[in-house]
Amino acid sequence: MRPFIAANWKLHKTVEESVETAARLKIIIEGVNDRDILVCPPFTALEEIYHVIEGTNIMLGAQDVFWEEEGAFTGEVSPEMLKNVGCEYVIIGHSERRKYFNETDETVNKKIRASFADELKVILCVGETEEMRDQAKHRDFVEKELEDGLKNISSSDAKMLAVAYEPIWAIGTGQTATPEQAQEMHAFIRDRLSVIFDQKTADSIRILYGGSVKPDNVKELMSQKDINGALVGGASLDAESFGKIIKGF
Ligand code: PGA
Repeated sequence: MRPFIAANWKLHKTVEESVETAARLKIIIEGVNDRDILVCPPFTALEEIYHVIEGTNIMLGAQDVFWEEEGAFTGEVSPEMLKNVGCEYVIIGHSERRKYFNETDETVNKKIRASFADELKVILCVGETEEMRDQAKHRDFVEKELEDGLKNISSSDAKMLAVAYEPIWAIGTGQTATPEQAQEMHAFIRDRLSVIFDQKTADSIRILYGGSVKPDNVKELMSQKDINGALVGGASLDAESFGKIIKGF
């Protein structure tokens, strides 16, 4: 499976800073053609960055989307609007959106279906808290996020899906899941995807690991059978560091 390395810049960078980072990244990854690369800047920088990366193998993505096409929904942006500025992907259901902005499995599902209707590809984020893991409830929790988030989605639309397993306790903490812990959950996720869709579809869906991915741990993570990529926050803000992650396995 072609590896997929994605940058989630979260609430960081002005348009100028975003353009500068993307331009540096473009030079750093020149000639790297055997993996997919995605950058997800804030909404304000999407269009400018698109012009910087156009014609390269860096793809553009947004960090969220709304499910309606248009209307009186102040502050929201539709899948069509994202495609219009050059986005190929959108991140949906990041744990920070679930925690701070009342994202639920139901709204996640609406957003995924609306995105697929406009052929906008999706990275669906799932992952448990530390407390859930301590109580051995992490599998049940992630299973529910997958089942409810992917309700009424066809196997053919699932071609536009990637899943990111991001244990909440590993995000921004420097405390990465061990490669074994991540592999175990990735295999579990693939198994659940085979029930939701079918085995062939599940085998074709890329499952990314997210949570304190750094240049020095990417290789070990990527060597695991069911880890097909990485969703990188903090270490993607600097072009050199993100470049090392992209080239580091
Ligand atoms: P982190 O964030 O790499 O800073 O832990 C990952 C994410 O939230 O996608």
